Amino acid sequence: MLRTHNCGELRITDVNKEVILCGWIRRIRDMGSIIWIDLRDRYGITQLTIFKDKASEDLLNIVNSLAREYVIKAKGKVIERESKNPKLATGDIEIQVEEILILNKSEIPPFLIENETNGSEELRLKYRFLDLRRPIMQNYLLMRHRLARYIREYLDNAGFVEIETPMLIRSTPEGARDFLVPSRLHPGKFYALPQSPQLFKQILMIAGFDKYYQLVRCFRDEDLRADRQPEFTQLDCEMSFVEQEDILNTFEGLFKYLFKKELNIDFTNFNILKYTEAIEKYGSDKPDLRYSLEIVNITNIVKGKGFNIFDDADVILGICVPQGNVLTRKHIDELTQFVRRPQIGCGGLAYIRVNSDGSYKSSFDKYYTQEDLNKIAINCNAQKNDIILILSGPKKKTYFAMGELRKHVAEQLNLINKNIFCPVWVIDFPMFEWDEETRRYYAKHHPFTSPKQEDIELLESNPEKVRANAYDLVINGIEIGGGSIRIHDIKLQKLVFKCLGFTEKEINEKFGFLLKAFEYGVPPHGGIAFGFDRICSLFAGVESIRDVIAFPKNQNARDLMIDAPSQVDSDQLNELNIAIKQNF
Ligand code: AMO
Repeated sequence: MLRTHNCGELRITDVNKEVILCGWIRRIRDMGSIIWIDLRDRYGITQLTIFKDKASEDLLNIVNSLAREYVIKAKGKVIERESKNPKLATGDIEIQVEEILILNKSEIPPFLIENETNGSEELRLKYRFLDLRRPIMQNYLLMRHRLARYIREYLDNAGFVEIETPMLIRSTPEGARDFLVPSRLHPGKFYALPQSPQLFKQILMIAGFDKYYQLVRCFRDEDLRADRQPEFTQLDCEMSFVEQEDILNTFEGLFKYLFKKELNIDFTNFNILKYTEAIEKYGSDKPDLRYSLEIVNITNIVKGKGFNIFDDADVILGICVPQGNVLTRKHIDELTQFVRRPQIGCGGLAYIRVNSDGSYKSSFDKYYTQEDLNKIAINCNAQKNDIILILSGPKKKTYFAMGELRKHVAEQLNLINKNIFCPVWVIDFPMFEWDEETRRYYAKHHPFTSPKQEDIELLESNPEKVRANAYDLVINGIEIGGGSIRIHDIKLQKLVFKCLGFTEKEINEKFGFLLKAFEYGVPPHGGIAFGFDRICSLFAGVESIRDVIAFPKNQNARDLMIDAPSQVDSDQLNELNIAIKQNF
C-alpha cells in the first residue's frame, strides 16, 4: 500500500504517529509562516501543515509547485491542531508534513470540486470524473451501494435467488420504444435490449425458481424526465404460488427494512388506496400523501344555479387550501394560467374565499348566494381564511387537472414536508386504457397481468370496466414500483391478447415461446419491479435520478463524457448490412 491511512480516519488518539496519506489537493492556503493543504479522498479530508521554518528546501520547492487536484503522497507526523474544526471528522488533528511526492499533476478543474459547486449540469456530466470527486456525489453512490447490499441481504434471507437474464433479446411489450441492436450474423435482423426481464422471470417461475430477483439494467427509448433515463436499473422480482397480498407483504417488508437500515425510520403498515379512490381524492394514480388538499366532488351541490360553465360540466371539483385566502389576485391569475396550459387544458379556475369574518367572496358571486357558497364550503370543510379552488369539465380530464393543481399549489405554498416519507400501495388498476389517437385499448400494466376473477366475464363486452390484479408502490408522489399477479392460464392469456387487438399471427410471432412454455405446467405467480434509481434518489433526497447514477445520460439522452451516441465507421455499418440515409 502507498498509504498507511486514508484521509478520513485519523483522530486525536493517533497523535504522534508517523503516517503516509495519499489523495487529491482540495485547496492550498499560504498563511505566511505556515502552509495548509486540504487533502481529500473518498473517506474525508485531512489537513496537511507545512511549517516553513521547519521544512527542508526540497519540501518547500515541491509545495510551491503544487496546485488544486494534484495527486500527492504526504509523509509526516500526526499532531494536535491548535484551532480545531468540529465540522471535520479529522478536525482535531493535522499532519506535520516531512515529505511530499507528486504522484500526478492536474489541469485546473473547470468547476469547484465542492458540495456547493459552480459547475452547470452539462459541464459536470462532461467532466463526470471530477464531479464524482465531490463528497456529496460520492455519498450518493455509497448510499446506492449500501441500498443494493440491504436489498440482497433481505431477499437472500427470504429465500430469493438472483438470476441473470439476457440483454440481447426480442422486443418485450412494456409500452416504450425498444433500443435495437443489429445482428451481424443474421442480416436484417435485430435484437432488442430488454425494457424489463418480464417474460424471462415468468419463464423462471415455470422452471421452478419460485422466488427470483435481479438488480438489472433495463432500456427504454422514451422521453426523458428527472425520474427517467433511457437505461436504468430495476429491482425485478417474481414469486410463485402467491396472491397479491403475499407480494405486498413481502415487499412492504423490504421497504421497511431499507428505511430502518439506511435512515433509521420505523414504519407501521403502508397505506393502501384503490385506483379509483386515488383518482377521486388526489387526481392521480401516484398521489403524494405528504399533504392533504383532498379533492371534493361538489357537482351535485353546485349545479343548477344558472351558471353555464358549471351547469354544462360533467364534474365540478374543489380543493380547500388551508389559510389560502392569502393568495392574491396575482397568485390566482398565475394558477389560472397554470390550469390553462395545453398539458392541462382547463378553460379556467373558479374560487371561493372564506373571509376572516366567515363571509364568502367567490369568482361566480353573480349566480350564488352566501347560503349557496356556505353549503359548498361546508362540503369542502373550509374554515375562515381558507380558499376553495374549483375546476369543472369532463370527468377524466378534470380529475387529472385537479391532481396537477393540487401538486402545484402544495409546492407554491410550501405545504410539503420534505422530511417525511408517505408510502402507499395503489391497487385495483384498470386492466386496459383506451388510446384516442390509435383508437384501441392498451394494457395499463402489461399484457401478462391477470384480470380480477369477477371481471373476467367483462373482458370482451366491457373492457373498460375490467380491473386488474395490478399494484404500484408510490412514495411521496413518485411511482417507485409496479407489478401484478400474472395470467397462468393459456386460454385466458390468449383472450387478453385478443382484447388488445393482437392477431393470431402476431400472438404466435411475439409470444409463441411463452405460450409454448404455458403448455408445460405454469404455477400461479406474480411479481413486481422497482425503479432502483428512484429508490436511491428518494433516500438521498434529490430531485433527479441523474445524481444517483454514476454515468447518466443528459436530458437529450446523450452521454456527454464519452460523447455517445456517435457515428460509426462505414465498414462497421457494411458488416451489419445497414445503410444510413445520406442526409444524416
Ligand atoms: P414498470 O414498467 O412499471 O414495470 O417498471 C417498474 C419500475 O421501473 C421504474 N422505471 C424507470 N426508472 C427510471 N427510468 C425509466 N425510464 C423507468 N421506467 C420505469 C419505475 C417503475 O415503477 N415488468 C414490469 C414489472 C412487473 O410487472 O413485475 C415493469 O417493468 O420506478
